[in-house]
Amino acid sequence: MHDILPSDQYIWEKIRNNLKDIAGFYNFLRIDTPLLEEAALFERTTGQDTDIVEKQMYIIKTSKGDRLALRPEGTPSVARAYIQHGLSHLAQPVKLYYEGSMFRREQPQAGRLRQLHQAGFEIISNADDPVYDAQTILACCRLIESLKIKNLNIHINSIGCKVCRPNYRRKLIDYYKPLAKSLCKDCSRRSVNNPLRLLDCKTPACQPFKEGAPIMLDSLCANCGKHFKAVLEYIESLGLSYTLDHYLVRGLDYYTKTVFEIFTEGIDLAIGGGGRYDYLIAMLGGRHSPAVGAALGLDRLVDVIKTKEINLLGKIKPKIAFIHMGDLAKRKSLSLIEELRVSGIDAVDFLGKDSLNAQLSLANKLGSPLALIFGQKEALEEDIIIRDMKTGSQETVPLKRIVKGIRRKMK
Ligand code: HAM
Repeated sequence: MHDILPSDQYIWEKIRNNLKDIAGFYNFLRIDTPLLEEAALFERTTGQDTDIVEKQMYIIKTSKGDRLALRPEGTPSVARAYIQHGLSHLAQPVKLYYEGSMFRREQPQAGRLRQLHQAGFEIISNADDPVYDAQTILACCRLIESLKIKNLNIHINSIGCKVCRPNYRRKLIDYYKPLAKSLCKDCSRRSVNNPLRLLDCKTPACQPFKEGAPIMLDSLCANCGKHFKAVLEYIESLGLSYTLDHYLVRGLDYYTKTVFEIFTEGIDLAIGGGGRYDYLIAMLGGRHSPAVGAALGLDRLVDVIKTKEINLLGKIKPKIAFIHMGDLAKRKSLSLIEELRVSGIDAVDFLGKDSLNAQLSLANKLGSPLALIFGQKEALEEDIIIRDMKTGSQETVPLKRIVKGIRRKMK
């Protein structure tokens, strides 16, 4: 779990601002759900056999016997809130977005945090229109690109539906049966109950077996095949670069049809991932509501921005420097600076420093266009000096007219 230090805050602020703009453009509405949910919510949805639920949830047992989990992801909470608050009555589709901390007890290593931050988009509706899959991917890509991260590649696959997946499961079980003894512990346990999970295994010893495994595309029913083709056509028409990844199944159980992950050069881990989850809301007791969504890993985006030294700062408007000298001036300074704040003038003070030279040199370092010099004499006479930091020219103005004086000089 990381601290986010002041030096990185501008990157986080930029991401949050851009998220708000992009979500707003595509008409996603903000939703915030609690950090704690009943553990059973994730066990039923994310899936008992997934690494996230099996190994990575932080569970809190209350004195009354409740089992709560620090949310490992946002989708089940959004689905729960959608049902609980009757959001199905809103105009369809319902497009929601969120941003915040998720918690997964991962093995600590580069790019895998135990408190991670995600920005997520979810589109819930009464139809599984492939245009929503494309729009989810598009919103993710646009957010990443708005942070000047280029060369995105979308790894995409379809993992079918209730109709065609059982057939694929059977093929996988048959394929893995003779390999049972060579598989890692998790895979050998999951090979019968949840064989799709084997394609998601990260253990090096299991990697070679993936190569020969049957692929889902060969088993898709006509409906899923048509759906996937339409998603790919939309993505192509948007000019987004993608790779068909036959073994992409994603580490969560609720997906149907489209699944995808987003990569960029210079980092092996996905910077975002998502997919369609047509049965999740009905499974939690809501009416049948096909849905699709994705989440971006904000910590990974920040890593990319820092590693590639991407400059997101743009031009910062330097503040006006407030320089004081002497005890009387110092005593009057705080309320004078408040007057500036109320009038919308951005000022930086050096109230902890007494030397004029030290304060002027700080003002120079900060690139302040003007300095307000408030000394003992000015404090007594209710004046202030406005100094043009470039030319060095100075003008004394009455305190009453300080704001006007500054505005005139700034022009
Ligand atoms: P996910 O693939 O588990 O999907 O997470 C989405 C993204 O969060 C990943 O692509 C990655 O960038 C980031 N991430 C995941 N785990 C970590 C970690 N330990 N440290 C740093 N970053 C991490 C979901 O969470 C789904 N809820 C996405 C979704 C939304 N599907 C449908 N709607």
